[in-house]
Amino acid sequence: MKIGLFYSSDTGNTESVAEMIQEEIGQDNLDIHEVFTIDLPETIAQYEFIILGVPTWYDGEVQNEWADKLDELEKVNLTGCKVAVYGLGDQEDWGEFFCDAIAVLAAKAQGSGATIIGHWSSDGYEFTESKALIDEKTFIGLTLDEDRQSELTESRIKTWLEQLKVELGVDNWQAELS
Ligand SMILES: Cc1cc2nc3c(=O)[nH]c(=O)nc-3n(C[C@H](O)[C@H](O)[C@H](O)COP(=O)(O)O)c2cc1C
Repeated sequence: MKIGLFYSSDTGNTESVAEMIQEEIGQDNLDIHEVFTIDLPETIAQYEFIILGVPTWYDGEVQNEWADKLDELEKVNLTGCKVAVYGLGDQEDWGEFFCDAIAVLAAKAQGSGATIIGHWSSDGYEFTESKALIDEKTFIGLTLDEDRQSELTESRIKTWLEQLKVELGVDNWQAELS
């Protein structure tokens, strides 16, 4: 399976998480792309499974490099493609907008035909509001908080990746998607 991870990052947290994900999945199985450096439609079309990573900034905004690419994401044909999203945020100082940006990316990918997998429980987080919630207890994707809960990041990533394998129906990251 060819897996592509697409991210942007202001202060490096979303980038570090991309590298942690790559360590788990394996360098041979997953390519990492920082979105502002690439032609998004052309690059994203190469992959069978796609992970999108984005931090939320300034009252629920998509980080600016991803924001510049949203039009392109809208134009890609992702019909039949599975996409998982993760995001970085701060549930304490920005608890009214916790990880809002992943909802924007997920909606754009869905609009392009993708099926979003990798929904994540909101248990263990304390925040006021989040657009990333799809119901009272579930985020559309993995939410991570390096500012308040960095000690949980590694185990959250590992658990999420195991869940993704189950949802993709594969035993390992080399397997072909059916
Ligand atoms: C000025 C400022 C605004 C922020 N706004 C939000 C926000 O609206 N929602 C949120 O969940 N986190 C917010 N954060 C927290 C960042 O998303 C968090 O620090 C994240 O780890 C940054 O990721 P990056 O290093 O990949 O850019 C904000 C942080 C700062 C300093």
